[in-house]
Amino acid sequence: MSSPSRTPVWFLFTRHWLSLLGAGLVTTAVISWLFLLPGQLKGHGENPYLGIAVFVILAVFVAGLALIPIGIYLSKRQIQAGLPEGGLDRKAALQRLAWFLGVTTFANILIGTQVTYRAVKHMETPQFCGATCHVMHPELAAYQNAPHAEVECVECHVAPGATGWLKSKTAGMHQFVQTVTNTYPRPVPSALESNRLVSARETCENCHWAQKFAAVKLRVISKYADDQTNTLTQTVLMMMVGGSKTGGIHGAHFGPGIHIHFAASDPTRQTIPWVEYRNTTTGETETFVTSGSKADSANALPKYEMQCVDCHNRPAHSFDLPESAMDKALALGQIPVTLPYVKKKSVELLKANYHSSQEAADKLPGAMVAFYQQNYPDVSKQRARDITQAANAVLAIYNRNVFPDLKVTWGTYPNNLGHQNSPGCFRCHDASHETANGKTITQDCNACHEPLAMDEASPEILKTLGIAEQISKLQKP
Ligand code: HEC
Ligand code: HEC
Ligand code: HEC
Ligand code: HEC
Ligand code: HEC
Repeated sequence: MSSPSRTPVWFLFTRHWLSLLGAGLVTTAVISWLFLLPGQLKGHGENPYLGIAVFVILAVFVAGLALIPIGIYLSKRQIQAGLPEGGLDRKAALQRLAWFLGVTTFANILIGTQVTYRAVKHMETPQFCGATCHVMHPELAAYQNAPHAEVECVECHVAPGATGWLKSKTAGMHQFVQTVTNTYPRPVPSALESNRLVSARETCENCHWAQKFAAVKLRVISKYADDQTNTLTQTVLMMMVGGSKTGGIHGAHFGPGIHIHFAASDPTRQTIPWVEYRNTTTGETETFVTSGSKADSANALPKYEMQCVDCHNRPAHSFDLPESAMDKALALGQIPVTLPYVKKKSVELLKANYHSSQEAADKLPGAMVAFYQQNYPDVSKQRARDITQAANAVLAIYNRNVFPDLKVTWGTYPNNLGHQNSPGCFRCHDASHETANGKTITQDCNACHEPLAMDEASPEILKTLGIAEQISKLQKP
C-alpha cells in the first residue's frame, strides 16, 4: 500500500464528499454565470436583482473552491489515521466520479436552462424594472404612455459593453440597499441630476440617426378654455427640426464641427450661466455668459457637452401639467368636451392636495359627480355615464402624474423640450446670455418654429392646407 502523501490527488478528491460538493458548487456557479454572460455583455443588467444574482453566484463559487482542499485534506487525514482503505479502490473512486458528474450535469442543465435563462429574461422586461421596484412606479406610468413604450429600460439606462455593465452593477447595488432599507431619496433624483444617465451617444444614437431627422414638422396644439363650453383654440407651429446635415434645430447644435458646452449651477441643469459654442470647421469660438455672472465664476461649475437628452430629457418619462394633460384627454375624446366647465373643474380637482393615491381615488371621482349634481342637475341625470367616464379619466391622469408617497407631484420633473412650462430652450435662448461683443443666443420666435397660428378658434392655415377637417377627426374619434 502506498503512503498517503503519495496518493494521487484525484483519489483523495473523489474520496471525500466535501471536496465533491465543492467541485459541484464551482461548476454550477461557472455554468450559471455563463448563462448570465450574454445579457451582461450586451449591457443588459440594469436592475439590482441581477447584481444580487451575480453576487450569489460568486459566493457559491468561492465557497466551492474552499471546500475542495478541505475535503482533500480531510481524506488525507483519514488515510493517515488508517481508516478504511476502500478509499484507494480505483473502481469505487471512478464510480463516485461518474455519479458526481451525472448529478452535477443534471443540476446544471436544470439551473442553466430553466432558472437562470428565464430569470434573466424576466429581469430585462420593463414590467420587472418598473413594477417590481416601487420607487420606479412614476417612471413606469409615464413610460407606458410615451413613444418609447416598446423600448426596454436598459436600452437607455445601461451602456453597452462590460464597463457599462459594471457601472450599472455598482449603482444598482447601492440603489438596492437604499430600497431595502427604505432610505432612497424622495422624489428620486432625475437621472441627469444624479449623473447616472448613459451618454446619448451610446443609447439614443444607436437607434436614431443624428444626421437626418425631419426637415420640418407641423405641430397642432389644441387648448380648451376655462369657460362653460370649454372653447377650443389651436396653435399651429412649423417646427424647424432639421438634422446635423440639414440645419434647423438639430443642425444648430450638432452640425459638422459644432460642439456646445455649458456650465450649470444646479444639479438638475436648469440654471445655465455659461455657454461655449465651438465650430472646429470654421475655427469660430464664442462664449456666452449671463449678465449677472462672470466667465471665471463659471470655472468652478461642472461643465457638460450638449447631447440629445439636454433637450429630450423626457423621451420616455414625460410628466404632464394638469392643463396640458386635460387638453390632450379632451382632444382625444377621453373626456366628453360637451360637459359644461369640464376643463375648469377637472384642473381644479387635479390640483387639489391629496395625501395619498388612495385618498385621491376616494375623493376625486365623487367630487366630480357632486359638482354636476349640485350645479347641473339635468346634465347630471341625463349624462351620468359621460360624467363617470370623465371622472375616471381625470383620476387616471392624476395617477399617471402624481405619486404622493414618493413626493412626485405636478412639475417635479420638468421637460426641457420647449419653454412654456419650464425654462427648457430658454435656459440658453433667453437673450441675456451675451458674448463680450454683445452677441446673444437667439430668442427670435421664428428661429425654432414658424408660428403659423397662435391660439386661434379656427386657424386659417389649417383650412389653406386643407387639413382642418382631418385634424378635428383625428382629435375626436
Ligand atoms: C428612451 C430612453 C429611455 C427609456 C426606454 C427609459 N428611460 Fe428612464 N430616463 C431616461 C432619461 C433621458 C432620464 C433622465 C431624465 C432627466 O434627468 O431629466 C430617465 C430617468 C429615469 C429615472 C430617474 C427619475 C426621473 O424621472 O428622472 C428612473 C427611475 C427611470 N428613468 C426609470 C426607467 C424605467 C423603470 C424604465 C423602463 C420602464 C425606463 N426608465 C426607460 C430615458 C429612458
Ligand atoms: C432601441 C431603440 C431606441 C432608442 C435606444 C431610443 N429610441 Fe427614440 N424612438 C425609437 C422608436 C422606434 C421611435 C418611434 C416611436 C413611434 O413613433 O411610435 C422613437 C421615437 C423618438 C422620438 C419622437 C417622439 C415623438 O413624439 O414622435 C424622439 C424625440 C426620440 N425617439 C428621442 C430619443 C432619445 C432622446 C433617446 C435617448 C435617450 C432615444 N430616442 C432612444 C427608438 C429608440
Ligand atoms: C437643442 C435641442 C435638441 C437637441 C440637443 C436634440 N433635439 Fe431632437 N428635437 C428637438 C426639437 C425641438 C424637436 C421637435 C419636437 C417637436 O415635435 O415639437 C426634435 C425632434 C426630434 C425627433 C423627432 C423627429 C420627427 O420627425 O418627429 C427625433 C427622433 C429627435 N429629435 C432625436 C434626437 C436625437 C437622437 C438627438 C441627439 C443626437 C436630438 N434629437 C438632439 C430638439 C433637440
Ligand atoms: C445649453 C444651451 C442651449 C440650450 C439649452 C439650447 N440651445 Fe439652441 N443654441 C445654443 C447655442 C450656443 C447656439 C448657437 C448660437 C449662435 O452662435 O448664434 C444655439 C443655436 C440654436 C439655433 C440656431 C439659431 C440661429 O439663429 O441660427 C436654433 C434653431 C436652436 N438653437 C434651437 C434650440 C431649441 C429648440 C432648444 C430647446 C429644445 C435649444 N436650442 C436649447 C445653445 C442652446
Ligand atoms: C430656442 C428655440 C425657441 C424659441 C427661440 C422660441 N420657441 Fe416657442 N417653442 C420651442 C419649442 C421646442 C417648443 C415645444 C414644441 C413641443 O411641444 O414639442 C415651443 C413651443 C411654443 C408654443 C406652444 C407651446 C404650447 O404647448 O402651448 C408657443 C405658443 C411658443 N413656443 C411661442 C413662442 C414665442 C412667442 C416665441 C418668441 C418669444 C418663441 N416661442 C420662441 C422653441 C422655441
